[in-house]
Amino acid sequence: MASSEHETALREVEEEIRRCRRCPLCRTRRRAVPGEGRPDADIMFVGEAPGGEEDAQGRPFVGAAGRLLTNLLRSIGIDRREVFITNIVKCRPPGNRDPLPEEIEACNEYLLTQIALIKPKIICTLGRFAAQTLIAGNLSISREHGKPRRLSGILYVPIFHPAAALHQPRFADALESDFRALRGILDEEMKSTRMGGNN
Ligand code: URA
Repeated sequence: MASSEHETALREVEEEIRRCRRCPLCRTRRRAVPGEGRPDADIMFVGEAPGGEEDAQGRPFVGAAGRLLTNLLRSIGIDRREVFITNIVKCRPPGNRDPLPEEIEACNEYLLTQIALIKPKIICTLGRFAAQTLIAGNLSISREHGKPRRLSGILYVPIFHPAAALHQPRFADALESDFRALRGILDEEMKSTRMGGNN
């Protein structure tokens, strides 16, 4: 697909998400949050669901967890505008409760379409729900965080959710070390894809 066609297709999915009524979250949201970033990003970050600030602004990761994510990205030399950031669920669950399986299911097609259009080389999942939705339903985030897995040609890297470090300081060190490890994984992956390999 030519680049402008591909950007148009991505904008169309975003419009569809903004008007979506596939699950009851549409009745309590203020704004749906499709995601943002480069339409041809090499790296995608996928979180859980919008919180209060994201729901108010219609943008992903702009509250406290988002500021931490932006700073962690900066600490490994990544500007958030260079990647694509989204969530498995595009509307805020009331009171920031965990997303329900049927809400994740209702939104899944949007996420898979975004991935198919953006074609990232690497997808970094943030927290348990994103890892279990995209990598493996039984994945244990405490055992598997920081360990990359290749599925259908995409390198998936599960890491802790930045909000975990805000609520429980014991996660802060693990999150920082996941981001340092992520820098190494990205460098390796970019080197090998530039050389034409995919393993
Ligand atoms: N937490 C998420 O998982 N996503 C956001 O967009 C904000 C906070």
